[in-house]
Amino acid sequence: MIQVENLVKTHHRGDVEIPVLRGVTCSIPRGKFTFIVGPSGSGKSTLLYLLGALDEPTSGRIEVDGRDIAAMTDGERDLFRRQEVGFIFQSFNLISNLDAIDNVLVPYIPLGTSGERRESAETLLRQVGLGHRLDHRPAHLSGGEQQRVAIARALLKRPSLILADEPTGELDSKTGAEIFGYLRQLQADNGATVVTVTHDHRYIRPDDHVLEIGDGVIVRSSVHAAS
Ligand SMILES: Nc1ncnc2c1ncn2[C@@H]1O[C@H](COP(=O)(O)OP(=O)(O)OP(=O)(O)O)[C@@H](O)[C@H]1O
Ligand SMILES: [Mg+2]
Repeated sequence: MIQVENLVKTHHRGDVEIPVLRGVTCSIPRGKFTFIVGPSGSGKSTLLYLLGALDEPTSGRIEVDGRDIAAMTDGERDLFRRQEVGFIFQSFNLISNLDAIDNVLVPYIPLGTSGERRESAETLLRQVGLGHRLDHRPAHLSGGEQQRVAIARALLKRPSLILADEPTGELDSKTGAEIFGYLRQLQADNGATVVTVTHDHRYIRPDDHVLEIGDGVIVRSSVHAAS
């Protein structure tokens, strides 16, 4: 369970204060899909980055399984981010001169990328239907294929928390649906908690948890009702 309490994030542009999150309180259940929805500029990405410890809150608490991320030392936070969190971004963020398998292995570059790790990267790529594209570079992959490489990369360390910021934002709706299909399948396989920002409500299923953000606060938190 992730418990967020009175989370405030104020950005600064020069001397100007930009309040983005004004006191977000919510809980995110483990082992489920949670969607963050809301208008552009409402603070969805900001909240997601705070959940993954990619950014620090101005005040408030984020407790992950009872541990307050903000109270961790830099080293502990680093470890949390690297071992427990997998990120998927809208624009894939692949490295252009590496092939698919090496892109998946990027998180392991400091530790070594041979043997068992390479085998797991290959297995993951096969699971997302890219067994025939292992040695292709991003330029030779479609958008949906690139995002599948990014998903495999995010999952390689078997993170317990997967955070995705509009992972289908640059894809057509058929490819987007496929991407969510893979995400749901992999989530079901390893029971991870998935938190996704999306503008497209069609990807939300009954039983998913939905957090609606507006003007820096949670305006609604619900289990999605089938429409
Ligand atoms: N580093 C920053 N410095 C200053 N302002 C920022 C910074 N990051 C975000 N903001 C501002 O904070 C507000 C919320 O941004 P955020 O990216 O969280 O919105 P969002 O809900 O993800 O929007 P979108 O749907 O367009 O992606 C915006 O008004 C944005 O301009
Ligand atoms: Mg955003």
